[in-house]
Amino acid sequence: MKNGIIITFEGPDGAGKTTVLEKVLPVLQEKDYDIVTTREPGGVEIAERIRDVILDVKHVAMDSKTELLLYMAARRQHYVEKVLPALEAGKVVLIDRFIDSSVVYQGAGRGLDKDIIAKLNEFSTDGREPDLTLYFDVESEIGLARIAKNADREVNRLDLEKLDMHKRVRQGYLALAQTEERIVTIDASRNLDQVVAEATQVILEQLS
Ligand code: TYD
Repeated sequence: MKNGIIITFEGPDGAGKTTVLEKVLPVLQEKDYDIVTTREPGGVEIAERIRDVILDVKHVAMDSKTELLLYMAARRQHYVEKVLPALEAGKVVLIDRFIDSSVVYQGAGRGLDKDIIAKLNEFSTDGREPDLTLYFDVESEIGLARIAKNADREVNRLDLEKLDMHKRVRQGYLALAQTEERIVTIDASRNLDQVVAEATQVILEQLS
């Protein structure tokens, strides 16, 4: 069995991580790395259907624990069906959100028990953690203003949360970045080219 690598992209809504991922991808492919890109929640059909249920703006009645369990269900299916085979084939797997999103959104954001979230993360991924995590840091006000300006972006249920929740999420990421060595913090308040350049450099260092 070959050993692939997991690199995750994390950050509050509006940090721009998805755009950065799209821009970094061709640079890595040009250097002949065998890359798979994917996202959570989603990435495979079953998990995409769970995603629709989680993010539907009509689902205001969703309980926080239900939300947590749905993210975990989506994570498990995506991990087994897509991430694991790619790792076994020796690929570099770039994931737009992964285990840290649950720690931060459902833990710091919703106030659910962090130990339970850690256990469920471990259960969903058989304990496999990312090799490298890029955390795109941006102040909540800036992130929310970017979302409001981006007319193409579909608004989801989590986007409708108040500034308060977004601030707790950011604090959660900052705290996590202090404790996890695999997390590299990138200042995402700068212009896109600078952020892409730094993200590319950090990834290439990890792969070399
Ligand atoms: P998405 O459209 O991917 O948001 P973004 O473009 O900002 O990444 O929607 C995913 C939403 O789900 C986002 O608000 C973060 C949230 N989320 C959690 O709350 N917990 C999780 O475990 C994951 C993976 C995502």
